[in-house]
Amino acid sequence: MIIRAATADDVALLARIGEETFRAAFASYNSPDNLESYIEKAYSEAAVAKHLFAEQMIYRIAEDEGAAVAFARYDLKHQPPHLEGKATIELCQIYVLTSEIGKGIGGKLLEDGFELGRTNDKNIIWLGVWENNPKAIRFYERWGFQTTSSHTFMLGDEAQRDLIMERAI
Ligand SMILES: CC(C)(COP(=O)(O)OP(=O)(O)OC[C@H]1O[C@@H](n2cnc3c(N)ncnc32)[C@H](O)[C@@H]1OP(=O)(O)O)[C@@H](O)C(=O)NCCC(=O)NCCS
Repeated sequence: MIIRAATADDVALLARIGEETFRAAFASYNSPDNLESYIEKAYSEAAVAKHLFAEQMIYRIAEDEGAAVAFARYDLKHQPPHLEGKATIELCQIYVLTSEIGKGIGGKLLEDGFELGRTNDKNIIWLGVWENNPKAIRFYERWGFQTTSSHTFMLGDEAQRDLIMERAI
């Protein structure tokens, strides 16, 4: 498996994997309207392209024998209030294809993200995770993240509570 930076040629790929994995993980927990409106906002090709070309954002793609199996998106600037002024990197999205979950790919992406943070002179990595996503929370805890705060995340018109988790890198 390799992990590589995304390029302008990856917009359709990232939109496809993002939509597929988000749907698989969250469709059964949310109303169809809210799900579709969030997918359009976050995983349409236009949304992915906007993020891909933003200076502060970085996408990384995990490939197994040439086929993309997972991706992560990072933000070098965005910070929750309690981390303002600190040297942080945000893990905004991490999604592994449903058929590949539980094989350690997410951990490899996280390690790559820690290294990415260090090479950008960051010493804290943080993320927001839905409070009703216990599998992901357990995964982050296993990787040394601790919950330090929370914020509101809008999924369509529904306000959801995200835990803010962080660790030193
Ligand atoms: C969370 C995630 C990135 C972890 O990556 P991974 O490669 O599966 O990591 P691991 O192989 O270490 O496995 C993590 C554990 O979480 C489980 N898990 C996490 N999300 C899961 C899901 N949606 N369905 C089934 N199992 C899931 C895995 O089966 C595994 O179980 P274990 O604790 O018994 O070992 C990945 O499982 C994923 O993409 N999940 C769905 C989307 C998601 O929740 N993303 C995070 C949003 S904040």
